[in-house]
Amino acid sequence: MSEFICQTLRKHHDRRHFNCGVPVLNDYLAKVAGQDVKRKAAAVFVLSPTAEPNRIAGFYTLCSTSIELSSLPDDLARRLARYPDVPAILIGRLARDLSFPGVGSLLLSDALTRSVRVASEIAASVIVVDSKDEAAVRFYSKFGFLSLPKLPHRMFLPMATAEKL
Ligand SMILES: CC(C)(COP(=O)(O)OP(=O)(O)OC[C@H]1O[C@@H](n2cnc3c(N)ncnc32)[C@H](O)[C@@H]1OP(=O)(O)O)[C@@H](O)C(=O)NCCC(=O)NCCS
Repeated sequence: MSEFICQTLRKHHDRRHFNCGVPVLNDYLAKVAGQDVKRKAAAVFVLSPTAEPNRIAGFYTLCSTSIELSSLPDDLARRLARYPDVPAILIGRLARDLSFPGVGSLLLSDALTRSVRVASEIAASVIVVDSKDEAAVRFYSKFGFLSLPKLPHRMFLPMATAEKL
């Protein structure tokens, strides 16, 4: 049996005690995430230790978005369909509790696997993240995300690359 399980956010998950060290992300999970799910603004996935299924070790959100073809680097844009807007999946938020160092990569792998799976049914050419600071930029870079030329904190990964990962 694996050590962690990743599921959609449910009522039994203990959102109040989650602490990633970033108040705005803690507050989002505690107060807004449930509403976002209800209103279909974002899908929220939580990672729990298998032995403590109510506890939240980390979470991430996914929603559909689009990105202007002209904002992508030329070498990637040339390989994509020539429409002004490129369909994309946005990893809006991603964080892990301070008590669970090392699960960040598990969260991101799960988000990428899920995005690849979803994109086989509702097409998306890229995965996009909004990295909130330089540390987040370095974290996402480890997985091959690149900064948009004009918006360094908005990063992208071609879906074709995620499929290979
Ligand atoms: C960013 C975050 C998810 C990383 O979680 P984590 O559990 O520390 O990540 P992992 O240990 O799985 O790290 C995966 C890789 O990224 C690297 N990494 C993680 N944080 C990093 C940082 N701040 N700077 C540089 N590299 C970093 C790790 O060294 C590791 O690389 P390695 O495999 O070569 O050793 C976590 O620090 C967090 O939740 N931060 C607060 C919220 C946040 O900033 N979210 C980011 C998007 S808004």
